[in-house]
Amino acid sequence: MNLQIRNYIPEDYIEVEQLWKDTEMGGAKRGDDNEAIEETIRLGGKLLILEDISTGKIIGTSWLTQDGRRIYLHHFGIRPEHQGKGYSKILLKESLNFARNTGKQIKLEVHKNNITAVELYRKGGFKYLGDYDVYIIRDLDN
Ligand SMILES: CC(C)(COP(=O)(O)OP(=O)(O)OC[C@H]1O[C@@H](n2cnc3c(N)ncnc32)[C@H](O)[C@@H]1OP(=O)(O)O)[C@@H](O)C(=O)NCCC(=O)NCCS
Repeated sequence: MNLQIRNYIPEDYIEVEQLWKDTEMGGAKRGDDNEAIEETIRLGGKLLILEDISTGKIIGTSWLTQDGRRIYLHHFGIRPEHQGKGYSKILLKESLNFARNTGKQIKLEVHKNNITAVELYRKGGFKYLGDYDVYIIRDLDN
C-alpha cells in the first residue's frame, strides 16, 4: 500500500468521524467536532492523517493536542480492515516526532484491556505511570 502522513484539513471531517465511530473512538458527547479539531490545531496541536495515496482513503488518525505544558495523544486508530499490518507503527513514529520537535512530554490514556494498543505504546517507549482513575465533567452547567 502506498501511504502518506499529512495534516488534517476540514474536508476530511466526515471520513475521520466515520473512522472514529468504526474504531469506537468518537461520539458527539465527547465534543469531537471539526471546530474542536481546528481549535486544538490553533493551540499548537496536530491531527495526523494516514492516507492511502492510491485510493485517497483515510486509514488512520492520530490527534495530538497540547496545553502549553504537555502533548496528549488521542484518537489514535487504524481502520479495522487495515489493522494488523503494522501501519500504526508508522503513524506512532510520526506522532512522536511531532512531540519531540515541540520539546514537550507526551502523555496518553489507554484502557488496560486494550492489549494491542498497550503493547504498541510500550514498544514505542511509553512507560506506565500508575494505577490512576480518570474523571471528567462533561457538562459544567448541570
Ligand atoms: C491500536 C491500533 C491503532 C493498533 O494498530 P494495528 O494495526 O492493530 O497494529 P499493528 O499491526 O500496526 O501492530 C503494531 C503493534 O501493536 C501490537 N499488536 C498488534 N496486534 C497485537 C495483538 N493481537 N496482540 C498484542 N499486541 C498486538 C504489537 O506491539 C505490534 O507491533 P509488532 O508488529 O512489532 O509486534 C488499532 O488496533 C486500533 O485502531 N484499535 C482501535 C482503536 C484503539 O483502540 N486505539 C487506541 C486508543 S488509546
